[in-house]
Amino acid sequence: MCGIVGYTGKNQAITYLLEGLQTLEYRGYDSAGVAVLSPDGGLHGVKCAGRVSTLVERCKTANLVGTTGIAHTRWATHGAPTDRNAHPHMDCSGRIAIVHNGIIENFRELRSYLSRNGHELVSDTDSEVIAHLIEDAWKGPAAGDLVAAVRNACQRLEGSWALAVTCADVPGKLVCARKGSPLVIASTEDGAYAASDVTPLAAISSHVIQLDDDQFALLVEDGSVTVFDREGMEVANPSTIDIDWDASAATLGGYADFMAKEISEQPEAIERLLKDRLGKHGIEMDELSMTSEELAAIDRIYLVACGTSYHVCLIARDMIESWAKIPTLCEYASELNYKEPLVTDNTLCVIVTQSGETADTLTAARRMRALGCKVFAVTNVLGSTAARESDGTLYVQAGPEVCVASTKAYTAQMVACALLALRLAFAKGEMDRNEVGRHFHNLEALPDLIREVIARRWQDKHAAQVFRNARSALFLGRGVNSTTAYEGALKLKEISYLHAEAYPAGEMKHGPIALLEPGFPVVTVVPADHIHDKTVSNIQEVIARGATCVAVATDGDRDVAALCHDVLWIPPVPEERLIPIVAIVHLQMLARYVARARGRDVDKPRNLAKSVTVE
Ligand code: M6R
Repeated sequence: MCGIVGYTGKNQAITYLLEGLQTLEYRGYDSAGVAVLSPDGGLHGVKCAGRVSTLVERCKTANLVGTTGIAHTRWATHGAPTDRNAHPHMDCSGRIAIVHNGIIENFRELRSYLSRNGHELVSDTDSEVIAHLIEDAWKGPAAGDLVAAVRNACQRLEGSWALAVTCADVPGKLVCARKGSPLVIASTEDGAYAASDVTPLAAISSHVIQLDDDQFALLVEDGSVTVFDREGMEVANPSTIDIDWDASAATLGGYADFMAKEISEQPEAIERLLKDRLGKHGIEMDELSMTSEELAAIDRIYLVACGTSYHVCLIARDMIESWAKIPTLCEYASELNYKEPLVTDNTLCVIVTQSGETADTLTAARRMRALGCKVFAVTNVLGSTAARESDGTLYVQAGPEVCVASTKAYTAQMVACALLALRLAFAKGEMDRNEVGRHFHNLEALPDLIREVIARRWQDKHAAQVFRNARSALFLGRGVNSTTAYEGALKLKEISYLHAEAYPAGEMKHGPIALLEPGFPVVTVVPADHIHDKTVSNIQEVIARGATCVAVATDGDRDVAALCHDVLWIPPVPEERLIPIVAIVHLQMLARYVARARGRDVDKPRNLAKSVTVE
């Protein structure tokens, strides 16, 4: 949700702090702030509501000189996105500053305790209490020991946190802490760097330390980093991770926005994922960490995720049930957390999460594991919490996804789930090597088919005009492409702020048809599949009511061409179950064009954040 960075070293801190915030801005963009320990012995900072770019402008005249500092970009939970509520937060003396990602659940009790004891709290946030608790510890039991003061303060917190703390009385040092929110640290000759995730560190080091829950780190200006556990004992071998991301992957590289860039990267992402996957015995997937016998014994699968990743689960369910013949349930993580899942001795739980940090998904995974399930993660972000807490992880290797609206991770996750379904089908004896190979070759056709769709983006640009004066839209599709409709509607909603609703096309007549009136936009996914004619009938019903139909259809479909206002053409896809992976690309581009026509910031839609680390 929020992004935090910290630095102590030889260089001026402000450079990394502002660049790091810009890279992490997809984690939140309600307000931003920075505090630097200046050579005069004081802590100086700037913070403001709005984007990091506003902070950068303010910093130009603030003369923030110093080689140790912390910074933050916020997604507001407690307290409005104002200057006052922006991080860093200070203690009463103004000598301790903290930045926080997470939620302090007991902040009300702590606030009243602190106020009763003479502290003056100036913001409406939950985070500010942390600075004052550290102040208490610094003046009392942990005098002179910043790590101990932070540890002492954390013992009083309930909730989740990633913290970076600086103190004017401890120059050249930073303390970080983690519980439930990610934090990574790079140790280099130039100094020590902290960040919420690896994205800002990719250009700095290829090897980073990942703090585990209840760990603390002392970062020193000579670049050294020492990790401590909750008892204050040094951790001999902290968790580390190698970053194999090309730092330029998180830059625009000539594209107008990250969404355009990430849409265009889909073919290569799928190629990377498929590379060397087909072996003598079917799909190679050592990541599953399960023997063939264990796989063959699986009798139920729970697919668990949120948002776009949940839509991946809907597609995956169909593949697993039809190829591997394993009964499969899909659950929104936020709903599963309040249900009683029916787990057997051989139930597998698969979580799908681009960021690997979605709080609802992590909670659901922990719960399923406590019920005895093996948990397998399909994720994009290296070393994410989902990966670290799961029995096995399949990385989708889509590269950093910066745009808040997920595109390349969506298609890569669907392909990853197809591989999983084929692996299960083979283990279950439902497919032999040849059959798996045939499906695999169909997957290999996808990158070129997607390239072809991307080359037809002018069709989406044209169709976007249909939405110019619209206030709402309906998305329809049948079978696996009802999911394409759901995902298309979600994309349109989140980046254009235009209301969109999705339904299985056959359900329209049971209610949503009442919405239709002349000019009302209806997007219908009607590819060449076994239910094509039924969906064409639904288009007829739409047209009969004067609504404007935009279709996603397969090349050469004259019926659809004759009926619809605009057609977004896809080339023929060799297997029906894979059509969603190609068809969605048009709806991603359509959403982007509609949003741009409405003047929206497609990469950073309002109220959203890339990884939702609160429940
Ligand atoms: O990182 P995750 O895949 O767990 O994120 C889940 C959702 O928050 C995410 O897919 C969200 O719906 C996207 N903004 C959709 O574009």
